[in-house]
Amino acid sequence: MRRKLAAGNWKMNVTAGALSELVELAKQVNPGDAETLICPPSPLLYLACEKLRGTAIAIGAQDCHAEPSGAFTGDISAPMVADTGATYVILGHSERRDLHAEKDADVAAKTRAAWGAGLTAIICIGESGADREADKTLDIIATQLQGSVPDAATGENTVIAYEPIWAIGTGKTPTLDQIIEVHDFIRARLIERFGQQTADAIRLLYGGSVKPDNAAEIFTAENVDGALVGGASLKAADFAPIIKALTQA
Ligand code: PGA
Repeated sequence: MRRKLAAGNWKMNVTAGALSELVELAKQVNPGDAETLICPPSPLLYLACEKLRGTAIAIGAQDCHAEPSGAFTGDISAPMVADTGATYVILGHSERRDLHAEKDADVAAKTRAAWGAGLTAIICIGESGADREADKTLDIIATQLQGSVPDAATGENTVIAYEPIWAIGTGKTPTLDQIIEVHDFIRARLIERFGQQTADAIRLLYGGSVKPDNAAEIFTAENVDGALVGGASLKAADFAPIIKALTQA
């Protein structure tokens, strides 16, 4: 019922030459596979969309501004993202929250801007290592969900990515039970807030050190509808087996 989604976050890596990896990936992804998305750095959005036209791979941005235009040097707006042909935007990634001081309210404002431009928002939430050790994970998740996800969320306009900060780029992953606990909790909170039908349609991604060798196990969790993948999305040879594992889950 929920279409599985394998999303790659290229972060501030690669230049145009790396788009050959996208072309390679497109050869390995069939229309019947899990939905596949790559979020390259913003200067590559147009070119990536052009190269992938007619393939099964969608393109998204890694951030957008909450305002549609204005004196915001260096920022890109949601209408600009949509104008490139991109259809998704990652919002509230922990690196944005941490390094750019983005708060839940900023993420919610950006999400509304993304929706206004017809984009699907991938809203990221997740606890730090200290939060987890202090047994605050579910409280943090509840607060971020409430503050970052606006009331008009639906299965079409919103995807939620659970990314424990301590698992991002570290090679460490939570146990399967820890992933299940948080994803089940998120689903339950969404049901409380949005009702069963809407909550059931919103896809929940796991992110943080997803690799070809741990993906299949993570995808066994009922409320894991896909993955947000950083490092292992940069090479088609790493990302393709993750997409296959998700397709078969
Ligand atoms: P990683 O990054 O897969 O390299 O851990 C995930 C992310 O930050 O989205």
